[in-house]
Amino acid sequence: MTEALPKLREEFRMQNKSVFILGASGETGQVLLKEILDQRLFSKVTLIGRRTLPFQDEAYKNVNQEVVDFEKLDDYVSAFQGHDVGFCCLGTTRKKAGAEGFVRVDRDYVLKSAELAKAGGCTHFNLLSSKGADKSSSFLYLQVKGEVEARVEELKFDRYSIFRPGVLLCDRQESRPSEWLVRKIFGSLPESWASAHSVPVVTVVRAMLNNAVRPQVPEKTELLDNKAIYALGKADDALRP
Ligand SMILES: NC(=O)c1ccc[n+]([C@@H]2O[C@H](COP(=O)([O-])OP(=O)(O)OC[C@H]3O[C@@H](n4cnc5c(N)ncnc54)[C@H](OP(=O)(O)O)[C@@H]3O)[C@@H](O)[C@H]2O)c1
Repeated sequence: MTEALPKLREEFRMQNKSVFILGASGETGQVLLKEILDQRLFSKVTLIGRRTLPFQDEAYKNVNQEVVDFEKLDDYVSAFQGHDVGFCCLGTTRKKAGAEGFVRVDRDYVLKSAELAKAGGCTHFNLLSSKGADKSSSFLYLQVKGEVEARVEELKFDRYSIFRPGVLLCDRQESRPSEWLVRKIFGSLPESWASAHSVPVVTVVRAMLNNAVRPQVPEKTELLDNKAIYALGKADDALRP
């Protein structure tokens, strides 16, 4: 894989694909956008979000932004049209939005967006889910993640990639004390244990992109757990400057 990646990226670039990102203002979405621009993988990059994001850097000058009202997504069909690949990094927390608000964002907004993307011609949908996602779980978070995974699968994208990372390691701008504590604990644990249960955001993002450029496996749906994300996301770290 390590040796193959540069060639796979080059072949992928030649296909002039377009991409959209949902959740590009979030911790994962921001890193994903930067990496997509750094790697120059797509000929057109569109962000779909609830607000316009301010970018100063020249590198972002060709990024298109579609501002939508997620409560009325049917009014924004055109925002979802004509993208080959889609990445969904949308999400909130129960603490921030309440149980109902969490379900609304992490299930309903994600599912509706996926439906519109499919109708708009998207052939490869990438969903950032979570370790432990399980539609039968008694924990709301894991149940919703499992349910949305399954319902997006019913849409039958040509290719559907589900990423199930453990705790995301990043310097979160917004304060989340419980996540901060978990990160501190992971930081003090042996590498092998920590890498089974947590993963740096940049590794998740690189896994998503390294996966997107490699040929599709025979199955339409592929599931990458924390271990697979680690391996794929770090596959060509040694070749990076
Ligand atoms: N944190 C972890 O350790 C962890 C572990 C595994 C999986 N995950 C999952 O990974 C995904 C991304 O996580 P993250 O930490 O990168 O997310 P994040 O930093 O919280 O960003 C969330 C994104 O969703 C958007 N969003 C939130 N509420 C919204 C609403 N009501 N309407 C429209 N947009 C809304 C935000 O937009 P605004 O900027 O406009 O608010 C932002 O772009 C989530 O689904 C999360 O559950 C997280």
